[in-house]
Amino acid sequence: MYESLVEEAKKARNMAYCPYSHFAVGAALLAKDGRIFTGCNIENASYGATICAERVALGKAISEGARAFVAIAIVSSAEENTPPCGICRQVLVEWMPEGDVVLWSKKAGIQVEPMAALLPGAFLRASMKEQTKEG
Ligand code: THU
Repeated sequence: MYESLVEEAKKARNMAYCPYSHFAVGAALLAKDGRIFTGCNIENASYGATICAERVALGKAISEGARAFVAIAIVSSAEENTPPCGICRQVLVEWMPEGDVVLWSKKAGIQVEPMAALLPGAFLRASMKEQTKEG
């Protein structure tokens, strides 16, 4: 079902800039309007300034006007599937709370996880509305 999205993520992985970790990651984000936005990790000599592939793809998508998403595929250079980091989970849940996270590796194949299962009880825009009501 998500095979072609995984192929796009694999292509994006070729662009990874990862001279520090040598851990290449590619992501492909499918928008509800059918467009696909890709990203790779972009590392920095100041390690904390590194941007993950998922957030690069999402930033490209948002800046091109996409606002709703179906799924994101993530492919790394590891043998096993690579789950998104905590920061990426928080950023992704804002934009695709009902979307799918699709992981792929040669060893494990395709694994589809609902976004909601990867960050249960997420802090969302609605969480702040609740705060305002009570306080
Ligand atoms: N990385 C990603 O791009 N996405 C993930 O889901 C996991 C981690 C990157 C950040 C860094 O460049 C390298 O992988 C090692 O953490």
